[in-house]
Amino acid sequence: MAVLLTGGTGFVGARLCVELLRRTDGPVICLVRAESVARAEQRMRSAVEALGEDVPVLPRMRAVPADLSSARLGLDEGAYRTLAEEVDSVYHCGAYVHLAAAYERVAPVNIGGTRRVLEFCAAGTPKHLHHISTLGVFLAAREAGLDSVDESTVPTLGTCGPFGYLRTKVEAEQAVAAAAESGLTATLYRPGLVLADSRDGAAPANDFTTCVLAAAIVTGCYPTALGALPASTVDHTAQAIAALSLAPDTAGKVFHVMRPEPLPARELFERAREHGYRLREVTAQQWRVALLAHRANPWARAVLALEICTYILGITPGRRPPRFSADISADAAAAASVRVPDTGPAYFHRLLDRLERDHEETLSATHTSG
Ligand SMILES: NC(=O)c1ccc[n+]([C@@H]2O[C@H](COP(=O)([O-])OP(=O)(O)OC[C@H]3O[C@@H](n4cnc5c(N)ncnc54)[C@H](OP(=O)(O)O)[C@@H]3O)[C@@H](O)[C@H]2O)c1
Repeated sequence: MAVLLTGGTGFVGARLCVELLRRTDGPVICLVRAESVARAEQRMRSAVEALGEDVPVLPRMRAVPADLSSARLGLDEGAYRTLAEEVDSVYHCGAYVHLAAAYERVAPVNIGGTRRVLEFCAAGTPKHLHHISTLGVFLAAREAGLDSVDESTVPTLGTCGPFGYLRTKVEAEQAVAAAAESGLTATLYRPGLVLADSRDGAAPANDFTTCVLAAAIVTGCYPTALGALPASTVDHTAQAIAALSLAPDTAGKVFHVMRPEPLPARELFERAREHGYRLREVTAQQWRVALLAHRANPWARAVLALEICTYILGITPGRRPPRFSADISADAAAAASVRVPDTGPAYFHRLLDRLERDHEETLSATHTSG
């Protein structure tokens, strides 16, 4: 039987595709936004090849042009029916990931797309859905009266705060939970903040940690941060999802995909200082003033647009994220032989070296290094 993957061209999805190819022996069929099969294949090949991985299993990777926000996932009726018969597990990793976007902008893909995936799961051969959500669904849990959350906590529109993207992820989870109550076999994975690849420090330019670190470098300062972030590297996130999904008895389970201990937000900035940047710790207000003063710079502009920053970093005391625990998931990941990522100083040096290499122009005008 075959595996279907959405979001395979993305930060997490490309690595998840490779992990699934490594760990399964049938076709891995990727739904890709593209105007033709050739273009879909080319987009998937580039996404996987960019990882520099030696994957001798690429012939098993197939790409199908599709769109999560369209009826029948954008497939014609015949292709939809054939695929629904061929596939027996679905990894739904595709989403419109945008921390600053309005609800209306991301809902068609994040909620509508999840509904389309659920309809697909209900068609043809019985399927196991592996749904990728986010620990961000609990970002404002303290405001809903929860100081800590674990795998048994149920997210609501009260636990995710006023952020459009996170609200759509809660509603997508609710749609999956309702389908599971009606008999669908489903497993839920909630990654925390997904950090750059542990092997080469690679991360997309719109990645949260990348933006915040770059903005600190550009402004020469960072805010006093009180939060501790559930986080893991993108390679560990993909490995953990793949390994957990293929372990026995995962139906109906929820996994929090994060390194065992949350990452104190201030550690991000301390690592940048150790790397050689002269950064001053300032108040939240002073940081905002510094960002405004540098708003001609794309990193400063990106962070100014991220209201969610105050919650994720815990810049204001009343808006600290809750304590996240993932004991059940950590035990399951250990049992599935998933290695905990090393996110020590050497990792952050790799991440910052890569950031400097990839974004020399936008960082170099303003930073003082060495
Ligand atoms: N990054 C994080 O820090 C983080 C943290 C927690 C959870 N997550 C979750 O992890 C999953 C993957 O996130 P990511 O960081 O890998 O995001 P990403 O890099 O932005 O990738 C998103 C993927 O979804 C696809 N997609 C978007 N709209 C689509 C549509 N209408 N039809 C078909 N495909 C569409 C994108 O395709 P295109 O290439 O065509 O745009 C891309 O492959 C998401 O469910 C996200 O909520 C991410």
